[in-house]
Amino acid sequence: MEKDLNQEAMLNDIVSRLPAFGKERGNLIPILQMIHERHAFLHPDAIKMVGEYLEMAECEVYGVATFYNQFRFHPPGKHPIKVCLGTACHVRGSDIILENFERKLEIHEGETTPDLEFSIERVACVGCCALAPVAVVDETLHGHMAPSKVEGLILGFEIEKEKEEREKRRHESGQS
Ligand code: FES
Repeated sequence: MEKDLNQEAMLNDIVSRLPAFGKERGNLIPILQMIHERHAFLHPDAIKMVGEYLEMAECEVYGVATFYNQFRFHPPGKHPIKVCLGTACHVRGSDIILENFERKLEIHEGETTPDLEFSIERVACVGCCALAPVAVVDETLHGHMAPSKVEGLILGFEIEKEKEEREKRRHESGQS
């Protein structure tokens, strides 16, 4: 239910901001950027809405949006995971690190786990090449990544989540 309300609020926000842009096709990218900046991803309904506003087919809007790597099509997870695939990280096997995260979380890069806990994306050099391969999780940089570190990181979050849920249950049973 909460998700529906969020979605509605998001769509209302977009509707209220579209008139600031002219209806020329040249405004497609600025509109998509505005939506992405405010909501962190492009929801299918937002794509549809933009298509209607600019009188473009939905698939055309998708085509343009997917051409640019800057747009996400899924909401970011609570814990966003960014794996650097810049040259220094790549030569030190960051593609294997990316694969490890994907396998462990059962999603592909650009996607979000169904419980919205994690999302994975690839990024270009984050400026810490000496620590390659690098991953950024929740804004924390993890250098010299290895498959065992991937396991450890995810396990850490799972334990943390279990602890939070246990606390919540205890709190709820204490209140009743
Ligand atoms: S290439 Fe990954 S931090 Fe520079």
